[in-house]
Amino acid sequence: MKKRTHTCGKLRKKNVSESVNLNGWVNTVRLHGQVIFIDLRDRYGKTQIVFNSEDYKGDFEAVKKLSMEDVLSVRGTVQARSEGAVNPDLPTGEIEVLVESMELLSETAPLPFIITDRDSALEDLRLKYRYLELRTDELQHNIMTRHKTYQAVRKYLTDQDFIEIETPTLMKSTPEGARDFLVPSRIHHGKFYALPQSPQLYKQILMISGFDRYFQIVKCFRDEDFRADRQPEFTQIDVEMSFIDEEDIFSNMEGLTRHVFKEVINVDLPDPFPRITYDEAMSQYGSDKPDTRYELFLRNVKEFTERSDFNAFKSVDSVKAIVVPDGAKYSRKIIDEFTDYVKKYKAKGLAWMKAEAGQLTGGISKFFSGDLQKDLIKTTNMNDGDIIFLMGDKRSIVEPALGALRVEIARREGLADKKAFNPLWVTHFPMFEFNEEENRYVAMHHPFTAPMEEDIDKLDSDPASVYSRGYDLTLNGHEIAGGSIRIHSQKIQEKIFGILGLSRDEAKEKFGFLVEALTYGAPPHGGIAFGFDRLVMILTGSNNIRDVIAFPKTTSAVSLMDEAPNTVSKQQLDELGIQIKPDKN
Ligand code: AMO
Repeated sequence: MKKRTHTCGKLRKKNVSESVNLNGWVNTVRLHGQVIFIDLRDRYGKTQIVFNSEDYKGDFEAVKKLSMEDVLSVRGTVQARSEGAVNPDLPTGEIEVLVESMELLSETAPLPFIITDRDSALEDLRLKYRYLELRTDELQHNIMTRHKTYQAVRKYLTDQDFIEIETPTLMKSTPEGARDFLVPSRIHHGKFYALPQSPQLYKQILMISGFDRYFQIVKCFRDEDFRADRQPEFTQIDVEMSFIDEEDIFSNMEGLTRHVFKEVINVDLPDPFPRITYDEAMSQYGSDKPDTRYELFLRNVKEFTERSDFNAFKSVDSVKAIVVPDGAKYSRKIIDEFTDYVKKYKAKGLAWMKAEAGQLTGGISKFFSGDLQKDLIKTTNMNDGDIIFLMGDKRSIVEPALGALRVEIARREGLADKKAFNPLWVTHFPMFEFNEEENRYVAMHHPFTAPMEEDIDKLDSDPASVYSRGYDLTLNGHEIAGGSIRIHSQKIQEKIFGILGLSRDEAKEKFGFLVEALTYGAPPHGGIAFGFDRLVMILTGSNNIRDVIAFPKTTSAVSLMDEAPNTVSKQQLDELGIQIKPDKN
């Protein structure tokens, strides 16, 4: 093999008449009689190489047989392309390499799909041959963006005196909300390690040990339902700080996020980031991760439905609406689709009216008097041609369901400016959520989150009204990070465990080491974790988390390339003292 003198992205006009060696993959082949053009590709770019039967010293017939994805080593001379042949889209587009000799380093088997056209195959096939899919321009770009993001994060945090500390992957199962992945112990039959859902406990313990600014780019594992932005194993930028309050976390993490966006995609984010409380976010946007690139605000319209003859909304807690500009164009069929869509969010239905010639028509308009219609039009700033969607139910159903419709309509109408990046802190989360199935309070963030100082008195009397010192960072409708100021007092920590229904013994059994550590001089501390994959999704403009992870799992948690999970031998099971129960079916 002639080793490369340049990569396939390197050569420019200034290299004309140099003798060079290139190594790479055949991206495309074009046969023009006695001249064959090949785009040779590596991760740095593509260079056009030319085989001319007159100049080429080797076997021209062998060149004709080359196919896409064969691996070549070529030697040749750089020449300027004739004016009409210059390709302005390619950095190497002004030159080509006239080949003198070629060695076929590796011949490819017939390809399962065409690398230059990612959409030519369904995702399952591409995931099975992930190594081929990773050759596509899009995934090469995404993986390189991911690399740049790691470097930008490490540089920024290191410059700010944070230190990177690894924490164990085999740990004790501790509840963080999702289901744990378990690893059986060979030495201790019947005992299991858990893979960390996050390094939460360790990082708090590191604060107690005095490492007052910690970070780690770390794999986390959660056995939950997977969606377009969730994977069973994903990566966090995990951060914890001591002797701080919310403002320190916000300013440091804004600095980090701004640095990453500037370094990786040259985007300037606002300084400071805007903030919204959880209650405001839910009531205005129907979401705790509002996409603020478009309006479509939720409005309270209960006073109007109260005055109407529409009785279905008379007995409900909350009636809210969104006005969609130009939405009067929606057909019955589309409105039915929206209705089905909100039913997935537990809504019972979706009422609507259209504005026409200063009046409301269709839907439930006949229950509204002329004056009432005018009032509603005025208050909600409706214009002719708009549609208003109304929903009545418990607030906990209306807001998320209308919020989901808001996002769906924005998606359908392309309302979000793709070039805009709107970060937004969400603060003042309720401390607890009541879980009706389990008939008990659960922590909205996690059990180590501190309550707001001014609410501590209400912990016993009215836990539902207590707000926490938790916060999320959202961007364009994605939750990209979440964290909190922690409890550093053992007494309050035990009280919270009590409200969560964990007895002293249970709490000790589950988190004993942290509870004990809190007694040995715990500094006030707090932290946050970014969903690294989600961050890279936004930086690359991808809408699928699998597109920014080299070897992702499917939504059913399978790796199609290496066929994990899989069965293991009887001997392996015996060593672990494990017997598989027969399937019930
Ligand atoms: P949390 O559970 O909010 O907080 O997770 C932090 C961030 O991680 C991302 N994320 C995920 N990304 C991909 N796939 C998943 N399955 C997944 N689950 C979460 C989200 C989320 O904002 N220990 C706390 C942090 C802290 O309090 O410091 C924690 O893990 O972007």
